[in-house]
Order: sequence, then structure tokens, then C-alpha cells
Amino acid sequence: MKPTVAPFPAARLRRTRTTHALRNLVRENTLTVDDLIWPVFVRDGTDVMEPVASMPGVMRQSLDNVVKSAKEAQDLGIPAICLFPYTDPALKTEDCAEAWNPDNLTNQAIRAIKDAAPDIAVMTDVALDPYNINGHDGFVVEGEIVNDRSVEALVKMTLAQARSGADIIGPSDMMDGRIGAMRRALEEKGFSNVSILSYSAKYASGYYGPFRDAVGASGALKGDKKTYQMDPGNSDEALRLVERDLQEGADMVMVKPGIAYLDVCHRVKTTFGAPTFAYQVSGEYAMIMAAAQNGWIDKEQVMMESLLAFKRAGCDGILTYFAPRVAKLLNR
Ligand code: PBG
Repeated sequence: MKPTVAPFPAARLRRTRTTHALRNLVRENTLTVDDLIWPVFVRDGTDVMEPVASMPGVMRQSLDNVVKSAKEAQDLGIPAICLFPYTDPALKTEDCAEAWNPDNLTNQAIRAIKDAAPDIAVMTDVALDPYNINGHDGFVVEGEIVNDRSVEALVKMTLAQARSGADIIGPSDMMDGRIGAMRRALEEKGFSNVSILSYSAKYASGYYGPFRDAVGASGALKGDKKTYQMDPGNSDEALRLVERDLQEGADMVMVKPGIAYLDVCHRVKTTFGAPTFAYQVSGEYAMIMAAAQNGWIDKEQVMMESLLAFKRAGCDGILTYFAPRVAKLLNR
């Protein structure tokens, strides 16, 4: 549809910008608390709030504190919280067995949150990197990140999370065939209501740096993730990945990182019309916070503007470390 504009001065497009009321009236896209998924970092111990140096304002939280945060998020109306474990380096192995340990940090956190804050959806991360001595999302065999064996492990990990009460499974590993394998296993084991939000178009990005610090994977990672994560030059491929994941049974799809890939968000939403999410990743958060700390930008304004951009691009929601701050602002 092509917008029609009368000739000047019949049309003065500034008219609807004249007042706050008029601007509110004609705004095409809005950000609401319902659009937010809050990623949090869980670590062991009690009463720990350990700042992540490269992500000012973000903490690695012990279980008791994560439960408090989940309750707070629920009270703020945030629909979902997403758990990422900071795993004790001693538990990282080549066989990644900790990934499907029913009592690993993530699974303990899922149970504790479902118990204390039953109305917030709990999303998980499915990938081997927090448990892998090589820091990769799949098994490494003779230098190669192998696909099919990794998928088998990811299915075990998925089932352990579903048994703990996860509402949304978030495969971030980028192996081929994982969505179908996970969906089949979930149906077979009676978890037909557990959703999958697939990290379908996840790029091999420099924006993940601070996250790898947060989960303690930076030191561990050998090499890069370019043989499984996407090449930043591609966007047709993102559509093929999304289509494939939807056909394998993904309920929702994700583009990641966010701001640098808004074109991909838009293409995905307009092509498939499926629930589409973007991940405003750690590096995006760090850049906004660093500039704000220097007094170079207004933190609140840029935070809100950056998130509204995802709505304009067509996203249904955003994973963002700003979630509680945004919710507080929007609830005011
Ligand atoms: C790992 C994973 C990553 C992120 C989410 N899950 C990092 C990576 O792929 O190396 C990044 C999130 C962020 O940067 O905020 N499976």
C-alpha cells in the first residue's frame, strides 16, 4: 500500500506532531511490558549478586536471588524470564554430561521459579557451550563441531528442562535437525504443551562478547562458531532457516543479534507471519550502557528507542537485559 499525501499546504505532515496528544494518537507502533523476555544469569551459592564487568547493571545471581528476580518480574508483568547458567569450570567436560543433569543449575532454577512465581513463563537455553570444555555449542570431534551426535545430546538436555517444568525451550545451538528431534521427543514423553522458541537465524557475531564473559565461556572457546552460526552477509538463508524450523515444529522463531539485523526481522515477519522475536544481545546492551556512562547518550531514551525499533520491524517481542528497567518505566 502506497500512502497518499495531498499537496502542500493541504498536507503539512508536521500537524500530527504538534502536541504530545496528537503524537500519541497517531503512533503506529508501541512497546509494552508484554513484549519483554528477560535473560538472567544464574550461578551457584547463596545470596550472591556478582556484577558482570562488561554488562553494567547485570548480575550473576545465585538461585535464591534468581527466584526473587523472577517474582519481581512477574509482579512487573513481564511474561517470560530466560535462564543462562554460569557453570563452575570444574563441571565443564568433553562429554558435556552436566547439560542434561536433572540437578544442574538451570534445572534447579526452573523448579524453584515455577514454585515461587508460577505465572511467569520460564524459557531455557539449549546448547552445550556452558558445559563444554571447548566452549562450543556442539560436540567437538577432531576439531569439527559434529551435528547429529550434538542433536542427540540437545534432546536429552531439552527433556531434562521439560521435566523440570520449563515452558519455552530455546535452542540456540544452530545444529541442523534439532527442532524436529526436540519436538518429537517432547511429544513422545508427554510434553505436548512445552513450546519451542527457535534461535532460527543466529549469526556468528561479535556482539556476543560480554555474554561469553557472563557465562564464563570466553576463556573456554577454542576458535569461532562460523561453521554453525550464520554468515552476517546473508538474509535469504535466514528465511530458509526459519521456514525449515517452522516445518519441524518451532512455535516461535528468533533473529539474533537484534539492531544490526532489523532487516532480517522484517523479512521473517512479513514472509511467514509467525511469532517472531529478536534478541537484543549483550554487546548491544554494553554499547548503550557504555555510551550512557560516558554521558554521550541518554540511557533511558536510547533504551526505549532501540526496543521500539524491533516492534517497528515487525517483532512480537524482544529478549533484552533492560527488561525490568523498561517494565518499571512503562508501568509508571
Ligand atoms: C550460546 C548463546 C550465546 C548467546 C545466547 N546463547 C552466545 C554464543 O553463541 O556464543 C548470546 C547472548 C548475548 O550475547 O546476549 N549458545
